[in-house]
Amino acid sequence: MPVKLRGFSMAYSDAGKGLPLLFVHGYPLNRRMWDPQLQGLAEVARVLAPDLRGHGESQAVPGPYSVDLFADDLAAFLDALGIHQKIVLCGLSMGGYIVFAFYRKYAARLAGLILTATRAAADTPQSRLARDQSAQLARQQGVDAILEAMLPKLLAPVTSQTRPELVEQVRQIMAATSLEAILGDLVALKERPDSTPTLAEIEIPTLLLPGAQDQIIPLQEAQAMHAAIRGSVLEVIPDAGHLPNLENPAAFNAAIHRFINRLNPTE
Ligand code: MLT
Repeated sequence: MPVKLRGFSMAYSDAGKGLPLLFVHGYPLNRRMWDPQLQGLAEVARVLAPDLRGHGESQAVPGPYSVDLFADDLAAFLDALGIHQKIVLCGLSMGGYIVFAFYRKYAARLAGLILTATRAAADTPQSRLARDQSAQLARQQGVDAILEAMLPKLLAPVTSQTRPELVEQVRQIMAATSLEAILGDLVALKERPDSTPTLAEIEIPTLLLPGAQDQIIPLQEAQAMHAAIRGSVLEVIPDAGHLPNLENPAAFNAAIHRFINRLNPTE
């Protein structure tokens, strides 16, 4: 059952019991990308994965969106489910940009952070221009044109070459994104603030999980965040590109399992 919040209905998955682990998907994706985590981690935590506004089965509401708007949606989502205990928040790529915004607004609700395939920096002037070009492409040619342009970059070359079924699964996940969400996300991505100053302020356990062969966000970004976030743990996921949780779920889930065990040493 979706929850009604802040003027739209939000679809979500909810499996398991215990420490809430909230997963935030990237652009232009939805909660289906977290299926291997729902399957693999529900024995050790309460795994929650919403579709952000406009995405997947959540209502297609027009933008512009922002990382702060998404962070407020997530806080309202937790309230709607009556979750007031501290959570672990995991974001992939755009989801990671939203994690930084959530940390700035709602740090008291957090027990830990997991940042995967993401970066702290804002868009460069060149990438801002590319966002405008993508928006134009989406308006003129629809969601499929965005999807076909992104798909070759999302996965590691080895994944694209050897796992056609996973390539098709990712294509189908992206195809469920509304035009409203694509256009809304592109504004959120383009206008997001630089989160580099936030890194030194993070005072809770943080796990960094980049894919070793990410073609969208290079590994150096995670290494730089690791150097800047006090006490953070970096685990590079092998045989994976920009979607390490889907490309190598065994290594990804094992790293999260270890992280949760360190947070709950008695369990
Ligand atoms: C994503 O996966 O969320 C996007 O690639 C993020 C971005 O384009 O900056």
